[in-house]
Amino acid sequence: MTRPLQNRRILLVIGGGIAAYKALDLIRRLRERGAAVRPLLTAGAQEFVTPLAAAALAGERAHTDLFDRAEEADIGHIKLARDADAIVVAPATASLMARMATGEASDLAATVLLATTVPILIAPAMNVRMWQHPATRRNLATLRGDGVRVVGPNEGAMAEAEFGPGRLAEPSEIADAVEVMLTDSRPAPGFGFLAGREPAEAAKAGALAGRRVLVTSGPTHEPIDPVRYLANRSSGRQGHAIAAAAAAAGADVTLVAGPVSIPDPPGVRVVPVETARDMLAAVEAALPADLAIFAAAVGDWRPAEARDSKIKKDGAAPAPVALVENPDILAAIAQRTTDRPRLVVGFAAETDSVLDNARAKIVRKGCDLIVANDVSPAGGVMGGSANTVHLVGRDGTVETWPTLDKDEVGRRLVAHFAGLLGT
Ligand SMILES: Cc1cc2nc3c(=O)[nH]c(=O)nc-3n(C[C@H](O)[C@H](O)[C@H](O)COP(=O)(O)O)c2cc1C
Repeated sequence: MTRPLQNRRILLVIGGGIAAYKALDLIRRLRERGAAVRPLLTAGAQEFVTPLAAAALAGERAHTDLFDRAEEADIGHIKLARDADAIVVAPATASLMARMATGEASDLAATVLLATTVPILIAPAMNVRMWQHPATRRNLATLRGDGVRVVGPNEGAMAEAEFGPGRLAEPSEIADAVEVMLTDSRPAPGFGFLAGREPAEAAKAGALAGRRVLVTSGPTHEPIDPVRYLANRSSGRQGHAIAAAAAAAGADVTLVAGPVSIPDPPGVRVVPVETARDMLAAVEAALPADLAIFAAAVGDWRPAEARDSKIKKDGAAPAPVALVENPDILAAIAQRTTDRPRLVVGFAAETDSVLDNARAKIVRKGCDLIVANDVSPAGGVMGGSANTVHLVGRDGTVETWPTLDKDEVGRRLVAHFAGLLGT
């Protein structure tokens, strides 16, 4: 049986972060999938794991030093940069990202990353404040603009008793992203107007220049009392990725975002909201728009009454929480008679009969296109870093894309919508 990364050569750059030990597991995962892995450790990485451990697991020598005469005579930094099908940086430290973004060539890792033309995937990992710092945001935006792929970071408990995004993606997620990068660096079918061009390139080419784009993202919180609310598992990653891609494609973007813990995308006007009713008001205030993409997971219901003071546990059975329906934001905008955006796109996150439900939804809501995805435990999408989407048209036609990371889905959707809007 052919393994998914059979005969692929991966140069694994290990950065100096606390998560460097997970890079050792990543070597094993990549090799299990058939890849040949050549490790390269920064000086920082060697404070956390040894070149010997990386070399033993990889079955290859580990590279460490730009100015080592024997190493340079043997393989050389330029050859290291070229003798690979892909470079993976895991963990990508804040410092490595900064070196990459500014084109520094101050050590072996940064020099190789500057000298290469093969696809690069970074898996950032750092303290949540470092991740959210404007300098890291800028570097990330630059790297994305340069075509670097990004997996993670994930959210969770961190060292120093902090919580938030910054944890290294799991080795299996990184290996999945490598597979996606290597097996699917061509545009998905359906990009007729972009045939032969990378979606990222199309986005950079200003495909939405002069367009006003409205995106909703994240969950809504529907208060029960001042401390409790009804919510859902949406992370906002997909909607935020679409907003970022639209901005990179030159659009004037308003992102109406429910409560999320991911950072604002660069170059986007963000309107934070909490409830479905707030979201509808913010969306209406953001009109007119050429393109509206409703990626938020809006709560269908809210408590009929939000109490002013905290409901106390007094020993008696809790009072039932009566629910009422929230406004339908997608239908309200799609069915407007004035200021209806030219292209109205809805999202359908379903656990069963994904396509049938999406086809019914497009008719019921009156939108132009539905992006459907499977959020059943088997589909594993909600809150995750990858997404498998189906584009459902008004005539019921379906286009299914391969599983891609959410940034890539964002870029491709933006390229697709730009094509539908035309010039
Ligand atoms: C205990 C410890 C843990 C660290 N963890 C991280 C981390 O997770 N992410 C990060 O970006 N930097 C981290 N740093 C800081 C980096 O090690 C430092 O910026 C180093 O210069 C990075 O080198 P490199 O980018 O060449 O690998 C940590 C430092 C220490 C002392």
